[in-house]
Amino acid sequence: MEYNFVLRGNVLYTPQCGALSVHPHSYLVCEGGQVAGIFEELPEAYRNFPVEDFGDKMILPGLVDLHVHAGQYAFRGLGMDQELLAWLEQNAFPEESRFADASYAVRAYPIFVDALRRSATTRACIFATLHRPATLQLMQLLEDAGMPCYVGKVNMDRNSPDTLRETTEESLAETRRWLEESRAFSQVRPILTPRFIPSCTDALMAGLGRLQQEFQVPAQSHLSENLSEIDWVQSLCPDTRFYGEAYDRVGLFGGACPTIMAHCVWSGPEERALLKENGVFIAHCPQSNMNVSSGIAPIKQYLREGQRVGLGSDVAGGAHLSIYRAMTDAIQCSKLRWRLVDQDTPALTLPEALYMATKGGGAFFGKVGSFEPGYAFDAVVVDDSDLPTTRTCTLEERLERFVYLSDGQPFAKYAAGRRLF
Ligand code: GUN
Ligand code: FE
Repeated sequence: MEYNFVLRGNVLYTPQCGALSVHPHSYLVCEGGQVAGIFEELPEAYRNFPVEDFGDKMILPGLVDLHVHAGQYAFRGLGMDQELLAWLEQNAFPEESRFADASYAVRAYPIFVDALRRSATTRACIFATLHRPATLQLMQLLEDAGMPCYVGKVNMDRNSPDTLRETTEESLAETRRWLEESRAFSQVRPILTPRFIPSCTDALMAGLGRLQQEFQVPAQSHLSENLSEIDWVQSLCPDTRFYGEAYDRVGLFGGACPTIMAHCVWSGPEERALLKENGVFIAHCPQSNMNVSSGIAPIKQYLREGQRVGLGSDVAGGAHLSIYRAMTDAIQCSKLRWRLVDQDTPALTLPEALYMATKGGGAFFGKVGSFEPGYAFDAVVVDDSDLPTTRTCTLEERLERFVYLSDGQPFAKYAAGRRLF
């Protein structure tokens, strides 16, 4: 009975891309950790469930961060004047090297997990670093916080400093051991995480493909983010026609193996066709794409062509953990794309951005990110009373103001039917 309860408030969610469903002063029922329905009057069947009345507050699906680097949280908001490859060398790699020392992880990861716990994000797909003990510490903290996340031990065996590189054999052996040790967790799950093609030899990629077959785990990586990176991949893999093929030829590009590829700013027609055919999830990280000068991904087109798209903070390429902020960044940079690049494709709308932030990314986790019956009960209760205005706003307008103006911290938060605060 622990996960049987009812919330009352103004319920909003996006059942389809672009459609906002609005239920003023309604009952949202959680039965066994799943959504049972939204009702104007509470049905007889649920009369014995405890009801929490949140008055005039809004209740929204929990947000999904499809791409974030926990090992970069310490330098968010720093190093923002560089382009991707220099930024990686001068900021990301030195910071991530510090996690070789498990006592550093004990200091650093609680700060990240506490911020994520207090945010409106209920689920995330997280890059740790290549260090197995530190990665397990991060997983334990997330498990204790009640956050059902995917976490990846990163793989890197080339093109990085000695302090952040494994041999191919070490990388595969440590990954195997980590996958076995990850069985100890019930909510937090492992995800294979080759950093990107420049960091991983062909032998490592092939070995990870075999581990994926054996352990049946999903995968995450970076794809077609930045023009210099794409040129580099082409010179490292001269026998591929496009970047995504370097993942696909080892089986790490969707299909049987659910996969997230972050960015896809510059994916060409063949890559896009394969992304779609294999059902790869695209993690759109607009703030990072601006900060490290990668470009503006054609997200409206991706939605129109039926790609699976979610949003990512990509901290610390992105400075902000808030996925409300990722929503506004996605909308704003889609307007610049329309103005500067492609006048045939209009900008993203707020309901489209909310869809990507909830049901779009949530689909990677299964039935997540909607209030349709049978979906996991992931919800945030948000209070916009501290954003006063003389205007009388509709619920759609209150949602828009909240997304643009709030610090993103909810009043109450539930993941998989469990109240986190
Ligand atoms: N490509 C490879 N590693 C990274 C990273 O840490 N951040 C971003 N934005 N792109 C990457
Ligand atoms: Fe990233």
